[in-house]
Amino acid sequence: MATNVNERTIEVILPNQIGYERIAMASSASFAKMFGFSPARIEDLKTVVAEAAINAMQHGNKGRPDARVTMRMNLKDDTIYVTVTDDGEGIKQIYPKPDIDRIIDNLDPAIGFGLFLIKQLVDDVDFNIRTEKGNGLRMAIKKTKSDQGKV
Ligand SMILES: Nc1ncnc2c1ncn2[C@@H]1O[C@H](COP(=O)(O)OP(=O)(O)OP(=O)(O)O)[C@@H](O)[C@H]1O
Ligand SMILES: [Mg+2]
Repeated sequence: MATNVNERTIEVILPNQIGYERIAMASSASFAKMFGFSPARIEDLKTVVAEAAINAMQHGNKGRPDARVTMRMNLKDDTIYVTVTDDGEGIKQIYPKPDIDRIIDNLDPAIGFGLFLIKQLVDDVDFNIRTEKGNGLRMAIKKTKSDQGKV
């Protein structure tokens, strides 16, 4: 997956506080709109950005107020590449998809939807990247969704 910073790269640095993920969502939507992404694809992008940013705040930075979350985004060949990084150790394990029946029966906790949604909505994802901004994930969202990269 392309990692380069290019002349269309934007970077948003967020305080580690729930609510600020909206800044990342809005920025990503403006960026995608500039390049002609459809409203539906922009909704996908906003969803995955929100899930990744909230995870970074809660799991990566463990709620620490001095920590930061960085979202970097660029466009290459009709694909938006988004990295979301935090000051934590990275995602240690990817769990299987949530089992709705077990959750309803209170056998499993109602968690694990963030990474599942990300896998469903993006065209490609790397859950373990390291940049100078920290550990995180990188997602590729094509203007027109492909079925590749599905789990
Ligand atoms: N940035 C991160 N740093 C470290 N661990 C992470 C990070 N993001 C996710 N994880 C780990 O992956 C697990 C699954 O994340 P996921 O978003 O799917 O579920 P969740 O955040 O626990 O619950 P929710 O369904 O509310 O999103 C988390 O519980 C956490 O253990
Ligand atoms: Mg989550």
